[in-house]
Amino acid sequence: MSKGTVVITGAANGIGQFYAKRLAADGFDIAVADVAEADATRAVVEAEGRKFFSAVVDVTSPDSTLRFAAAVEAALPPVVALVNNAGIYPWKSFEDTDFATWKKVLSVNVDGPFLMTKAFLPGMRARKYGRIVNVASTTFWLNAPQMTAYIASKGGVIGFTRALASEIGGDGVTANVIAPGLTNTATMRGVNQDIYEYLPKQQAIPRVIEPEDLVGVVSFLCSKDSGFVTGQTIATDGGQVRL
Ligand SMILES: NC(=O)c1ccc[n+]([C@@H]2O[C@H](COP(=O)([O-])OP(=O)(O)OC[C@H]3O[C@@H](n4cnc5c(N)ncnc54)[C@H](O)[C@@H]3O)[C@@H](O)[C@H]2O)c1
Repeated sequence: MSKGTVVITGAANGIGQFYAKRLAADGFDIAVADVAEADATRAVVEAEGRKFFSAVVDVTSPDSTLRFAAAVEAALPPVVALVNNAGIYPWKSFEDTDFATWKKVLSVNVDGPFLMTKAFLPGMRARKYGRIVNVASTTFWLNAPQMTAYIASKGGVIGFTRALASEIGGDGVTANVIAPGLTNTATMRGVNQDIYEYLPKQQAIPRVIEPEDLVGVVSFLCSKDSGFVTGQTIATDGGQVRL
């Protein structure tokens, strides 16, 4: 028996693929929106015995996100949760951050959750049930140079979520944020390898965070059990920042 479908953006790779695996193990079918093909994620989800749907979707496109929502609602209804995980994090000084880079980061990281929420919230409201989980980053609370666009975007994600929660709680829909610390993914290691040497030592749990360390929080936020938690941000970083 399926518990319904969870939509995850950016789950063709990285942390999102681990969210897909855990949520499939929890009993949800999974739908993935990513600019990359999600064949590896399909294998992971089907190995858990759950159904899978994916499409190549750019979360910055209103047309693309609306078409995806219609396709998912037709193929795997009902959508019970949306995890806005797709994100980009170019490593650039403020001086080297041109306006095109700034707009691209804001577009993927903030417009993306906005557009995906626009696309999936009406169905959740109509059914009087839904869970929206947005992904920020603990860099928002840290002294982290070379990330102005990224940290601005993640502040936007937190602000968007807090404000959105106030408008949808009466319809049985919650909105929360997971803010991971530095996590072991191929993309992040490609951006800055050195940071893995010193940052984990500053955590209360002083080891590199693996994607598996994050999935339990997303599982909870997508579950019925989190029904009275909304507008919140959960730092999941081995205890480096304290909110
Ligand atoms: N890795 C870390 O250390 C870390 C720490 C804190 C927060 N995060 C956040 O976690 C999320 C995932 O990070 P990751 O390290 O797994 O990244 P990743 O690069 O491994 O995966 C990101 C996915 O998003 C997809 N994507 C990019 N642009 C897209 C677009 N316009 N439309 C649809 N899909 C798009 C990519 O194809 C990729 O599959 C991001 O929001 C990131 O900011 C990561």
